[in-house]
Amino acid sequence: MRILVLHGPNLNALGQREPEVYGSTTLAEIDARLAEVAREHSIELETFQSNHEGALIDRLQAAASKCDGFVINPGGLTHTSVALRDALAGAALPAIEVHLSNVYARESFRHRSLVAPVCVGQISGLGPLGYELALLALLAHLR
Ligand code: DQA
Repeated sequence: MRILVLHGPNLNALGQREPEVYGSTTLAEIDARLAEVAREHSIELETFQSNHEGALIDRLQAAASKCDGFVINPGGLTHTSVALRDALAGAALPAIEVHLSNVYARESFRHRSLVAPVCVGQISGLGPLGYELALLALLAHLR
């Protein structure tokens, strides 16, 4: 089984970026923990971060024929990107949406996710643990 984890804009800055909102864990630490979980469950895992909507869509399209599902934190694109949603819908593979922060406890523009309707489920507000739980949920869904 092969899973792609996609991180959207500004997530490369985790650790320095608004630590009171997103915590002090870096993206490299999150990816390392996910790699550990993947090893424990004998699955292949790739991770990809980009600040560019098109690069995320290109990566997603390229993976669609080669992997079994996605974990995705689209960052700010969650609330704006019809194109990313269409790419996820087009891939026709199960995806779990993750947010480090509780988007529903924040500004109202964060309460709407354009990608949520094309995902199996969403985890929001559990910090880095949310990624790990999303990966486990995806595995359970696939198995
Ligand atoms: C985020 C929440 C988004 O609203 C925000 O734009 C992000 C990060 C999160 O992980 O909490 O960039 O996706």
